[in-house]
Amino acid sequence: MKAISSGLRFCSHYAADKARREALNKLIEETFDIDLTPLVELDFEDPNVVPFSYFDEDGRCVANASVYPVRTMLGGVTGNAFAMQSVATRPEWRLNGLFRDLVTRALEWCDARRPLVMLKTDTPALYVRFGFGTRPRARFFVKTKDAPVERVAVRDIEMPRDAELLKRLLRERTPVSNRISLTDYGTVFFLEAVSGKFSSLHYVPDHDVAIAVSELPGGTLRIDNAIGRTIPPLPVLLGALGTAPDVVEFAFPPDLFGVDAETQPLVQTSAFMMRGAFPGTCEPFGLPLGGI
Ligand SMILES: CC(C)(COP(=O)(O)OP(=O)(O)OC[C@H]1O[C@@H](n2cnc3c(N)ncnc32)[C@H](O)[C@@H]1OP(=O)(O)O)[C@@H](O)C(=O)NCCC(=O)NCCS
Repeated sequence: MKAISSGLRFCSHYAADKARREALNKLIEETFDIDLTPLVELDFEDPNVVPFSYFDEDGRCVANASVYPVRTMLGGVTGNAFAMQSVATRPEWRLNGLFRDLVTRALEWCDARRPLVMLKTDTPALYVRFGFGTRPRARFFVKTKDAPVERVAVRDIEMPRDAELLKRLLRERTPVSNRISLTDYGTVFFLEAVSGKFSSLHYVPDHDVAIAVSELPGGTLRIDNAIGRTIPPLPVLLGALGTAPDVVEFAFPPDLFGVDAETQPLVQTSAFMMRGAFPGTCEPFGLPLGGI
């Protein structure tokens, strides 16, 4: 086992240091097989991210755990939390305690500032020892048969053409649900939009809102997210979909659409974990796609 001190240097709060930021991006790209170039080229890196990292003598970032601020709406109550992401150790440095060390440092920093830390992960077992717990998520189904459909102008959002529009909408957006909503800077949503991860992303100019929609196997339409200063009423949503299905699925609680929803358990490989009190008033819950 390599001692943490052997040639490694701990570093945090280095947003102003371009070389270190690039080294961190490289670690994230190589670990998670993603391309962060669009974030840099389209100038949408989150300035509020706080990285906790180790660098080697050649300036390579060998391990990292980042946190960033998130505004929360939990059971109708607004608040502030942090989310953790970009947790990685280079393969040759693994099992040397770097992850444990960096997560501990990051959580100490968070605990001094905000009551909640959350994350999404495919390996929840890693985080249980730090006090993170998992809550089951749900899928929401709304009967739309006979609901009015409004004729609305709608167009596809195309990236990078609509990058500035999307940045503004992310900056101004309102929570998608009063039961549970986590509003961050929007890096993941933006990156996924640029990478074409949403099966469709529409803009409704009259309501100044972007709507992410997926067509699921079996023909179900799922509303994945709504990004805007207001949440559009259901008739507008149906108009934007350009179709009137009997039932629409929502990835998040559709309480702000003024409709009753039936729920089913959501079975997923990734877990949403929270460290701190999770109010029962948030349940059943689901989360919009494109972010935590
Ligand atoms: C997961 C990862 C960050 C662990 O980094 P690391 O620096 O090797 O971790 P540590 O040496 O601090 O190990 C801490 C503990 O976690 C355990 N652990 C490490 N990797 C693990 C894994 N994939 N699953 C379960 N436990 C694991 C270690 O055995 C160790 O346990 P111990 O304290 O009882 O000895 C690293 O393997 C990695 O980058 N993986 C790919 C990216 C990833 O999965 N990121 C996290 C998901 S969000």
